[in-house]
Amino acid sequence: MSIINQLEKEVKNLIKKSGYEIENFQLLPSNRKDLGDFQINDAMTLAKTYKKSPHLIAEEIVKELSSDSRFININIAGPGFINLSLSNEYLAEVVNTINKDIYENIDTLPPKKVIIDYGGANVSKTLHVGHLRSADIGEALKRLAKLLGYEVLGDAHLGDYGRPLGLIINEIKTMYPTLEYFNENYEGNYEDIDLPITNEDLETIYPKASEKAKLDEKYLEEARQITAKIQQHQKGYYDLWKKIVEISKEDIKKVYRDLNVEFELWFGESDAVEYLDELYKIYEQANVLKQSENAQIIEVKQPTDKAPMPPLLFIKSNGSISYETTDLATIIQRKKEYNPDEIWYCVDGRQELHFEQVFRAARLVKLIADNVKLDFIGFGTMNGPDGKPFKTRDGKVMSLKKLIALVQEATRKKLNPSITDKQEQEEISKKVAIAALKYADFLPFRSTDFIFEVEKFSDLEGKTGPYLLYSTIRIKSLLNKADIDYKTFYTINSTTEKEIILTILNLPKVLLKSLELKSLNEIAEFLYNLTALYNKFYAENKILIEKNQKLKESWLILTKLVFNTNLLLLNVLGINVPEKM
Ligand code: ARG
Repeated sequence: MSIINQLEKEVKNLIKKSGYEIENFQLLPSNRKDLGDFQINDAMTLAKTYKKSPHLIAEEIVKELSSDSRFININIAGPGFINLSLSNEYLAEVVNTINKDIYENIDTLPPKKVIIDYGGANVSKTLHVGHLRSADIGEALKRLAKLLGYEVLGDAHLGDYGRPLGLIINEIKTMYPTLEYFNENYEGNYEDIDLPITNEDLETIYPKASEKAKLDEKYLEEARQITAKIQQHQKGYYDLWKKIVEISKEDIKKVYRDLNVEFELWFGESDAVEYLDELYKIYEQANVLKQSENAQIIEVKQPTDKAPMPPLLFIKSNGSISYETTDLATIIQRKKEYNPDEIWYCVDGRQELHFEQVFRAARLVKLIADNVKLDFIGFGTMNGPDGKPFKTRDGKVMSLKKLIALVQEATRKKLNPSITDKQEQEEISKKVAIAALKYADFLPFRSTDFIFEVEKFSDLEGKTGPYLLYSTIRIKSLLNKADIDYKTFYTINSTTEKEIILTILNLPKVLLKSLELKSLNEIAEFLYNLTALYNKFYAENKILIEKNQKLKESWLILTKLVFNTNLLLLNVLGINVPEKM
């Protein structure tokens, strides 16, 4: 149990000793630091329950609290607000405890198995800005949940199924009609065919095919038929599909690697296909499939709905299955293969209706046990300065690679001029660019839209990824330069030091709340606050040339504590710290 949690428990017991019971007791960091480090506001509520004056209650509580030497400066403000501070001796002990083991400052939760569906890259379609947020947030939530004791599996859930693939293959067929994949009489091994297509080609083929299909009904129909052929695993077409998925996946993996995003599972929508028959039977037997024109639909509206809730399209009029149906089949797959306690979907907020339909349809037939939580973790849009989803100058969706390159252009200019090696510049500026993007992504509450501002994101000052990296690197270099063996934190010498310790003490709550809200904004804020406080402390003291050895040792220990806390949290956010920048 973390120190703050333990402390709260003990205060709660002292309050109980004074005769009062508080259900959810919290030691709140004070917003009036001149009055105390923490405040206890419960006397007001207790006054109602116990029909006594809050001041009287506060006095009784204070009496109990005074028996514990860790609490000092206990006072009552106004009608019954209790303020208290922690003694310097105790805070020094806190520093030493956490320094020995940073996990002393983390609360873990009862174990749980969670699958996080994030990333959602589409095969042969360029990864774009929307996928960035899913990757950033999903990966960070996964790391946070693991840190707090959950077993978590991240699934890339690749979009490898459906019409886009039919369109791509149709276009390839137009370009290379003599390829053996299209030759029904081909007897050879498909593995041996040299496909003259790279991932870059694929990324241009899809938009081209999709434009053509809009104007040419016959072309579209051919693509539909090819889609069906892939789904029926027809020789040639199916083999080409596999090959394309492979090429595309390689590239997708590279981008995710740059982003520091790692999936435990690399399933695609197509992996749910083997569960389609079972899925169909379940819905058929439950008698909930309705015929509408030539399609089959499921009603999912409820009497309490305030907004319109359209039926879920189960099977399209042309017989093919929908995006909703794939997600339903994937629930069966996940249940059977992993049996999770929760499934989280970290997807663009604009898909909320889709998931509401899917979850309702799943609950309708108990596709998964009622106590398995299905949670949609929607996020806002990254907008351009015009307030609309961020696009390229000519109005197209910007690819993730272009976006990273754009930020990298800015971060490259900010590198220390002593870094002259071109390759090193490239690697470091990329890491910094990704930190800039990710941190900007985490700073607003998850569901909030935000505006993409290269200059602001890549600034070395202010609430930015580069500021955090730069500061953390400087802290590390200070520790490396230390010429004494530092083991013990002796005592607090300034209010800045005390603020640093109190900030760190509060970390377990920030972590738990972030997981509860499934948003990383508080961790992002915490990192900034801690780093800014440390930088203030750094400016106030000349650590390395301090003559008083005990003081110097204490300062170095505090420095190490901040460094380790920063590293831990940057790692949760999936941000890598370069050696220099
Ligand atoms: N591939 C989808 C897209 O690009 C995202 C997939 C999200 N996950 C899911 N289970 N539907 O929009």
